[in-house]
Amino acid sequence: MSVKVAILLSGRGSNFLALHGAMERGEVPAEIALVVSNVGEAAGLAKARSLRLPTVSYPHRLETSRSAHEAKVLKALRNAKVEWICLAGYMRLLSSAFVAEFPERILNIHPSLLPAFPGLDAQAQAVEWGVRVTGCTVHLVDDKLDHGPIVAQRAVPVHDDDNALSLSARILTEEHKAYPEALKRLLTERWRAQGRRVVFA
Ligand code: GRF
Repeated sequence: MSVKVAILLSGRGSNFLALHGAMERGEVPAEIALVVSNVGEAAGLAKARSLRLPTVSYPHRLETSRSAHEAKVLKALRNAKVEWICLAGYMRLLSSAFVAEFPERILNIHPSLLPAFPGLDAQAQAVEWGVRVTGCTVHLVDDKLDHGPIVAQRAVPVHDDDNALSLSARILTEEHKAYPEALKRLLTERWRAQGRRVVFA
C-alpha cells in the first residue's frame, strides 16, 4: 500500500529528489501526491513539474496572514488526500493549528545534530563554534522551530579546513540517506513518540 506524501519546499529541492528517488525505486512504500511551495520560482518546484508531479505554489507574501496562507495549503493537501507531509527546505514555521491537522504525520530534516544549532545557517553555526562532529536530524514537527521528537540522526566529522559550504555538502550527502530511511521506518514499523524521541518497537 502506497502512502500519499506531500513535499513542502522553498528552495532547491535535493531532499525532495532523494525522497522521490527512494519511492520510485520501491525503497519507501509511498508516493508523492503533491509538491507545495511558498516560493513560485523555487528550483525544487520546477524539478517537480519536470517529473510531472502535481504542484501548487502559494507565495506567502500575497497573503494577509499566516492562517490565510495555511488555509490554502491545507485545502490543497486535503484535495490531494495527503496522509504525510515531508518538509524539505520549507522556510516557513507551521502554526499549531496546522500541525494539529496532521498529528505526528509531519517530518522535517535539519542540517545539524539537534538540539545543537536550530534555525538558519546551522552548518555555518557549527563551523563557527568549532564543533568536531555535526550532522543531520530527521524529526517530527511541532509548532516550535526544529524542535519535535527525533526520529533519526547521522553524524559527520568537521575538518579544520571546513567552511560552511564544504560542511554543508558533507551533511547533505547524509541527509539524502537519512530522510528516506526515516520515512521508511515510520511507514513500515511500529513506533510511538515518547517525550523527546520516537521509539521503534
Ligand atoms: C537542507 O539542508 C535541509 O536540511 C534544510 O534545508 C536544506 C534544504 O535543501 N532544512 P534542499 O532544498 O533539500 O536541497
